[in-house]
Amino acid sequence: MAFHRVFLVFISFWFCVFSHKQFQTVFETPGKYLGTFHHPIRRVAVVGAGPAGLQAAAELLDHSFTVRLFERAPHPGGNWLYSEDTPLRESYPDKPVNSTLEIPAQIPTNKYYHEGDDGWTLNDRWTEHWRPRPVWYNLFTNSPKVSTELPDVPYAPETPWVLSHHTIQRHVRSYASHHCLNSNDHCPATPSAPRVASYSTRVEKVEKDAETHTWILTLRRLERLRESNRILEEWWTETFDAVVLATGPYTSAHVPDIEGIVDWSKAKEGEITACKTVLIVGASVSASEIARDISPFAHHIIASVRPPKERSARRLRSLSRFPNVTEFVPEIASFKPLKTHTDGIRSGEIHLINGSSLQGIDEIILATGYRSAALYPPNSTTRRPENIHWTGHYVTDPTLAYTLGRPWTIGRYQSYGLAKVWEGTARLPPLEEEEVEIPEGDVPYWRDMWLGEGVYWVHIAAKYLPPLIFFRLAQIRRYITWLNDASLEHGGRFVESPPIANLELLKYYSVVHLLNNTMGLEGIGLDFISMGAGGGIQS
Ligand SMILES: Cc1cc2nc3c(=O)[nH]c(=O)nc-3n(C[C@H](O)[C@H](O)[C@H](O)COP(=O)(O)OP(=O)(O)OC[C@H]3O[C@@H](n4cnc5c(N)ncnc54)[C@H](O)[C@@H]3O)c2cc1C
Ligand SMILES: NC(=O)c1ccc[n+]([C@@H]2O[C@H](COP(=O)([O-])OP(=O)(O)OC[C@H]3O[C@@H](n4cnc5c(N)ncnc54)[C@H](OP(=O)(O)O)[C@@H]3O)[C@@H](O)[C@H]2O)c1
Ligand SMILES: *[C@@H]1O[C@H](CO)[C@@H](O)[C@H](O)[C@H]1NC(C)=O
Ligand SMILES: *[C@@H]1O[C@H](CO)[C@@H](O)[C@H](O)[C@H]1NC(C)=O
Ligand SMILES: *[C@@H]1O[C@H](CO)[C@@H](O)[C@H](O)[C@H]1NC(C)=O
Ligand SMILES: *[C@@H]1O[C@H](CO)[C@@H](O)[C@H](O)[C@H]1NC(C)=O
Ligand SMILES: *[C@@H]1O[C@H](CO)[C@@H](O)[C@H](O)[C@H]1NC(C)=O
Repeated sequence: MAFHRVFLVFISFWFCVFSHKQFQTVFETPGKYLGTFHHPIRRVAVVGAGPAGLQAAAELLDHSFTVRLFERAPHPGGNWLYSEDTPLRESYPDKPVNSTLEIPAQIPTNKYYHEGDDGWTLNDRWTEHWRPRPVWYNLFTNSPKVSTELPDVPYAPETPWVLSHHTIQRHVRSYASHHCLNSNDHCPATPSAPRVASYSTRVEKVEKDAETHTWILTLRRLERLRESNRILEEWWTETFDAVVLATGPYTSAHVPDIEGIVDWSKAKEGEITACKTVLIVGASVSASEIARDISPFAHHIIASVRPPKERSARRLRSLSRFPNVTEFVPEIASFKPLKTHTDGIRSGEIHLINGSSLQGIDEIILATGYRSAALYPPNSTTRRPENIHWTGHYVTDPTLAYTLGRPWTIGRYQSYGLAKVWEGTARLPPLEEEEVEIPEGDVPYWRDMWLGEGVYWVHIAAKYLPPLIFFRLAQIRRYITWLNDASLEHGGRFVESPPIANLELLKYYSVVHLLNNTMGLEGIGLDFISMGAGGGIQS
C-alpha cells in the first residue's frame, strides 16, 4: 500500500508546480489558515462514496467533525459498484460535461414520477441518477492488490494478486461498514446523531455563501416506491463549513464526434445473430479487455485504433492484450448514412481515414473512455481542480478540498492532512515548500510504470512527469514529515511511512504485467499506427 500514498501526493505536487506562480500571493502570509478560518470548521460534507470519499469520511469522523456523506448511487463502492441494470443509452452526440440540470426555483420540494413521465421509463430515470457504471461482469483489476486495499479490513493472505471486481466491491463495502457508512448500517452507539451517509443522493450544486462563509449544497435524492410504482424525487439544501469533493474521474462516458455517428445511433437492432462481427473503437484498457472477454463468442473482432498521442508501456500493454484474432484497422473517418434504421447496421458502410471501408459489422462497442469535470467551480470542464495543495485543499479557498482514489492507499495520508488543517493542528505550507527537488537522471522505464499506475488521467501532467521513483519517495517522505512535524507542534497522532515491501511488490508487478507484456508486438498488423520497431517502451 505504501506506494500509492506516494502517488497522489505526488500528483498534487505537480499541479502545484504548474500553478503556484499564479497563486503565490495567497501565501504572502503563510500560516494564516492555521486555526484562523473565518469560523471553526465543524460540519463537513463529503461527496462520493468510492474508495477516496469513504476514507475521507472515516478520517473526518475520527476527528469529531460532523460529517455528511452524499453518494448518487444506492450503495458505496464508487466505480466498483457493479450493476446488472441495462445501462442507459449514452447521449449522441456527447453532451457537454458542464451541461447543468434545471434546479427547481423552490427548495425543498418533492416530486413524484410515474412510468412514462417526460418520455422516461422509471427504470431509465433510476439508472440515469447514478451512471456511468464502468465495471462489467468479468472485469479483473489491472493493478496488484496492494493498490486496492483499504485500511482496517485487510485482504486475507491467500487473496490472489489480481482481483475480480466482485471482491473489490465487497472489500469497499466492508470498509464502509467498518465505519458504519454502508447503505444499510445501523449504528446503535449514536442513535440520536444524524445519519452520516445519504445514498441515492446527487449533489447538484456546490456554492459558497459570501455572507456566512459557508458552503451550500443542493441535493437531489431518488427513491423507488415499488408499491405505487413511482419514483420520489426530493430536493433540499444543506450547509457546511467545509466540503471534500471525491467524485471520481468518470462523470460520463465519451462518445467520439465522428461524422454520421448520430445517424447510426438511431439504428434499431436487426436480426440477432449469435456469432457476430464486432467493431471495437479504442485501443486502451477497456477496449482490449472487452475484446478478450468477447473473443470466444464473436465471429470476428475488428479494432479501430488511432496512433497514440504518447507512447507508453500502458498503451503497449493494452495492444498486447487484444486477442490474437483481432483485425486492427485505422481510425474511422465517417459512418455513411444508413438506408433504414429498422434493420441494424450490417448493411451500413464505415469509411476509414486511410480510404478503405468496412461493411458487415453487427455491433460496435465504443471503448472511447470517459469525460469528467470537477463539481466546483460551477460549470467546470476541467477534469480536476488545478490549484490544490498536496492535501487536496484548494489554494483559492482551503475550506474546499479534492481527493481521488487513484491509487487508493494514498487516501489515508491525504485525509489525515485534510482533517488536521481543518481542526487546526496543521498549517498548509506555502506551495513552494511542497516542492521537492527532483533527482537527476532519467529512467523512462519507471516513468511508464507510474503512468500505468494512475497518472493516465492527468494527460497534461503526464508529459512533465519526472522519471524517477526516488522522487516519489522523496515526496512522500516530505509529506509524512509535514504531518508529523505538525502533530509534534500542535497535537495529533504520528504516522509511519508506507511499508517498503509494498513498493517492491508494485515494482515487481509493473515489470511482469506492464513491461513484460509489451515485447514482440511486431507483425500483428499494427504497422500503420507507427508504434515503431523493437517494442521499445521509451517515449
Ligand atoms: C473499468 C475500470 C477499471 C478500473 N480498474 C482499476 C484497477 O484495476 N486498479 C485501480 O487501482 N484502479 C482501477 N480503476 C480506477 C478507479 O477509478 C479507482 O480504482 C477508484 O475507483 C477511484 O476511487 P474514487 O473514490 O476516487 O472514485 P470513484 O470510485 O469513481 O467514486 C466516486 C463516487 O462519487 C460519486 N459521485 C460522483 N458525482 C457525484 C455527485 N455529484 N453527487 C453524489 N455522488 C457523486 C460516484 O457515484 C462514485 O460512487 C478502474 C476504473 C475503471 C473505469
Ligand atoms: N481493471 C481493468 O482491467 C480495467 C479495464 C478497463 C478500464 N480500466 C481503467 O479505466 C480507466 C479508463 O480506461 P478506458 O480504456 O475505458 O478509457 P481510456 O483509457 O480513456 O481509453 C479510451 C480510448 O479510446 C480512444 N479513442 C477515443 N476516441 C477515439 C476515436 N474517435 N477513434 C479511435 N479511438 C478513440 C482513445 O485513443 P487516444 O489514446 O488516442 O485518445 C483511447 O485509446 C483506465 O484507468 C483503465 O486503467 C481498467
Ligand atoms: C491465438 O490464441 C489462441 C487462444 O489463446 C491459441 O490457442 C492460438 O494458438 C493462438 N494462435 C496464434 C497464431 O498465436
Ligand atoms: C487501410 O488499412 C487497412 C487495415 O490496415 C488495410 O487492410 C487497407 O489495405 C488500408 N487501405 C489503404 C487504401 O491503404
Ligand atoms: C460549457 O463549456 C463549454 C466549453 O468550454 C462552454 O462553451 C460553455 O459555455 C459552457 N457552458 C456553461 C453552462 O458554462
Ligand atoms: C452555470 O450554468 C448555469 C446553467 O447554464 C447558469 O445558470 C449559471 O449561471 C452558471 N454559473 C456560472 C458561475 O457560470
Ligand atoms: C518475461 O517474459 C519472458 C518471455 O516470455 C519470460 O521468460 C520471463 O520469465 C518473464 N519475466 C517475468 C518476471 O515473468
